Amino acid sequence: MPEHFPDTFRIPLPDDFHVHLRQDEPLRVYVHDLASSFGRAIVMPNTTPPIRNAADLRRYRDEIIDAAAGYPWFTPLMTFKIAESHSAGQVRQLAAAGAYAGKLYPQGATTNSEDGVPDIRAAWPVFEAMQDSDLVLCIHGEDPTSFVLDREDAFLPVLEEMVRDFPRLRIVLEHITTSRAVELIRSLPDTVAATITVHHLLLTLDDVVGGFLNPHVFCKPIMKRPEDRAALAEAALSASPKFFFGSDSAPHPVGAKENACGCAGVYTAPVAMPLLIDFFERHGSIAGLREFCCERGRRFYRLPESDYEVSYSRKPWTVPERYGVVVPFRAGSTVVWTGSRPEPVQGG
Ligand code: NCD
Ligand code: ZN
Repeated sequence: MPEHFPDTFRIPLPDDFHVHLRQDEPLRVYVHDLASSFGRAIVMPNTTPPIRNAADLRRYRDEIIDAAAGYPWFTPLMTFKIAESHSAGQVRQLAAAGAYAGKLYPQGATTNSEDGVPDIRAAWPVFEAMQDSDLVLCIHGEDPTSFVLDREDAFLPVLEEMVRDFPRLRIVLEHITTSRAVELIRSLPDTVAATITVHHLLLTLDDVVGGFLNPHVFCKPIMKRPEDRAALAEAALSASPKFFFGSDSAPHPVGAKENACGCAGVYTAPVAMPLLIDFFERHGSIAGLREFCCERGRRFYRLPESDYEVSYSRKPWTVPERYGVVVPFRAGSTVVWTGSRPEPVQGG
């Protein structure tokens, strides 16, 4: 039975294990929108130019920390974009610079992945080096040569090979969307986990192209069938430690979305927590919400409990039509939950 939540409740400050903060001036705005609701975030490296080496990673982290002045609870967790040319020495330098993860983009799979990896097996030595440095491998798990709805499932055999060949490597299959991916993640060892976004928990392909075309919910991997969404919901609500929250919040200016060559990505950072709370109130419990947003991801990434907590109240607000030049997820609609400013845990 779903639990009716009290009108105000407190949880540890949630973390976001997959987010895009971009670069230059817009970065300041995106950091603000994210850091208002989250304590830590795994920051994706598909900037222009990409984050490839230790110097890039340090510079990008400094920019984010600078933009996050005023949000003392916020810590960016940095990643680099894997190239098959990365040497073991470069991987060690990235680990020494404080990287938490390397991100594998199959070439052409999504936004800014033209410089991704064309032949995944050619990157096996990089995975070996990451395993030795105890870095997490984050994967955009789609085979871009397959039919669009089959791309994630077509990638799963490659994941199984990786797990077989790198038994100590911690792997996160990012933003999973299919029931087969859920099933496979469940069956694999504890070194393998998956992130789930809020938009894939709430939408299907019908919401993208079933009526009028809605470019603002077009993303990679594309939304799937109702039974896939049901499998994701079951995974998020389950007691499994393997499924945790990663928003994949991915802002694009409105002109790049409402365009004949519309970019993939949904901007969910400002509304993700209210929508997740609503989802868990309809289908789960506060304990489940807390596991999904505050505990499982940080355990997988071996991070301590948050030093901050936040209280949420049933105070409806209307999602603005724009955050700067970006149309957010659920623009113009009413969401029910409002978060407080995060506060240090008392006696923590
Ligand atoms: C992301 C982006 O815009 O950077 N887009 C998306 O559709 N999810 C990249 C990604 O995570 O695939
Ligand atoms: Zn992403």
